[in-house]
Amino acid sequence: MAGPAFRAAAVRVRTPASSANLGPGFDAFGLALGLYDDVVVRVADSGLRIDIAGEGSETLPRDEKHLLVRSLRAAFDLLGGQPRGLEIVCANRIPHGRGLGSSSAAICAGIVAARAVTTGGEGRLDTQALLELATEIEGHPDNVAACLLGGFTLSWMESGLARAVRMTPADSVVPVVFVPSRPVLTETARGLLPRTVPHADAAANAGRAALLVEALTRRPGLLFTATEDRLHQEYRGPAMPESLALVERLRADGVPAVISGAGPTVLALVDEEAADKVAGLAGGEWAAARVPVDSAGASVLPLAP
Ligand code: HSE
Repeated sequence: MAGPAFRAAAVRVRTPASSANLGPGFDAFGLALGLYDDVVVRVADSGLRIDIAGEGSETLPRDEKHLLVRSLRAAFDLLGGQPRGLEIVCANRIPHGRGLGSSSAAICAGIVAARAVTTGGEGRLDTQALLELATEIEGHPDNVAACLLGGFTLSWMESGLARAVRMTPADSVVPVVFVPSRPVLTETARGLLPRTVPHADAAANAGRAALLVEALTRRPGLLFTATEDRLHQEYRGPAMPESLALVERLRADGVPAVISGAGPTVLALVDEEAADKVAGLAGGEWAAARVPVDSAGASVLPLAP
């Protein structure tokens, strides 16, 4: 069977950062954040050329090992075949190893770009197929669901396949992130989790996670209670003691604060009035910033002029 045809024009894909778990929803909740990586992909006659600016420009591989390239390749396989060559330009803004979904952003950029440069790609890979492929590459669905769909997502695995629903957070919710200078590997943070947890802790998290859907979409006044977690944050403390201490300090002040994803970034979900004050509560060793919720998810955009 003949392989697919490719578009000659370059495509630009923008992918948002994301915060997973949001406290009680381990490997399930995700929130897309308005901090973006940008990738331009063009099908070429031969070879693989990658330019990287910004985060990871000193360390990321410029060959087939790059997560973005592996994701492009996986999507092209599903789309029916590989192009002869690729030119890729990355502008990375999402910090790496901080629990802000940089790997999901790379994966989603790769698969969305592969679809966009393939003639008839949308007909061959729908959003559900993108979610399944991205989850297969990432290993869990929470960040990739938020990155692909935008907004507030709830994801789960069913018969080995990822599923997700997208919800719209209340307009009044303002995310504030506190990013530390040192990364923590997700594998390290996952390696600290126990194989079993007390039934009472599982029950508490189930209730809080259900409450978080109501709190984040309709009643932000419930966010403090709804962001309590007993399943992962404390266990991960040894890998990120300063982050856990900041979560506890913020919560002692009544601020709904959680570890973002596998950490070590701390996320607070506040309102417009409190945002600047809360951002100022951490010390100078934290890069604190308000970041809007992203509602579009991974998007193909016009090329910059
Ligand atoms: N849910 C995941 C975790 C997010 O907490 O390990 C990290 O990618």
